Amino acid sequence: MKAIITGAASGIGRAVAFQLSRNAATREGKAPQVLLVDLNKEKLEEVAELLRGEGVQAEIYAGDLTDPEVPAKVVAAAEKSFGGLDVLISNAGIIGRATLLELNLADYDRAFQINTRATWLLGKAAHPLLSASKGCIVATASMSAFQPTSPLGAYSSSKAALIMLVKQMALEWGPDGIRCNTISPGSTHTGMTDQRFSDPAQREVAAARNPLHMVGSAEHQAAAICFLASPEAAYITGADILVDGGMSTMLMKAAGAGDPWKK
Ligand SMILES: NC(=O)c1ccc[n+]([C@@H]2O[C@H](COP(=O)([O-])OP(=O)(O)OC[C@H]3O[C@@H](n4cnc5c(N)ncnc54)[C@H](O)[C@@H]3O)[C@@H](O)[C@H]2O)c1
Repeated sequence: MKAIITGAASGIGRAVAFQLSRNAATREGKAPQVLLVDLNKEKLEEVAELLRGEGVQAEIYAGDLTDPEVPAKVVAAAEKSFGGLDVLISNAGIIGRATLLELNLADYDRAFQINTRATWLLGKAAHPLLSASKGCIVATASMSAFQPTSPLGAYSSSKAALIMLVKQMALEWGPDGIRCNTISPGSTHTGMTDQRFSDPAQREVAAARNPLHMVGSAEHQAAAICFLASPEAAYITGADILVDGGMSTMLMKAAGAGDPWKK
């Protein structure tokens, strides 16, 4: 298996790098080849070293995916190192806190550049390689794509756009043999949320917001991504898997909408 994983220095991308490589090694009985992409070169190198210790051919690309030139360079680096590509995991993303009235143009643009546009540019550049291998794309969206989440207006809308973008890819590129799907994480303990979920009080509050009473882990999200990237998902394209501990079922309860039927 030859894969590109973005946002691989931390959180969900890091967990995907390990799970995807281990699953492929077990399935194929040979060394997986992964290109790890992130802004953070030092942490990328740490992840790559650990993977090499497990027999994985791990390469790194340190770069900023908001630069429109970078996605094609990433794909060219994978082609040069591995001679092809089977799996593209477009996972790097950022969150930003501002109400729509406070939000400035630069922050709005940056949210869409990394959370939405990077997946299109990566997919476009990777299309010839994925078409040759009958490969797949999995992108990381968010449960915020389905519910307006103040003060995350640029984040929610960029993730909603990402889900539709990937459905569009599934429609246009399915005939070329490329499957394209997303996952939508709920509250998950990663680098992005560490400050909040390392605090036991805040963690308890977040856990109480879903029926499983859990905060998700990077590994929970990686498992869904790895399933969508696996041969077991051969008939799944244009789909989104919500990995939110059931939080999305809580709307009516939270709004008290069941109360008139209570005895
Ligand atoms: N943690 C959550 O609760 C949660 C919930 C919903 C969705 N998500 C999504 O999951 C994905 C992974 O996030 P995470 O939670 O693992 O966070 P994280 O901060 O631990 O990891 C994200 C990684 O993306 C990298 N990155 C950010 N901007 C980049 C850029 N311009 N170019 C290259 N790399 C860049 C960061 O350096 C970081 O290593 C993101 O798309 C995020 O929006 C996370």
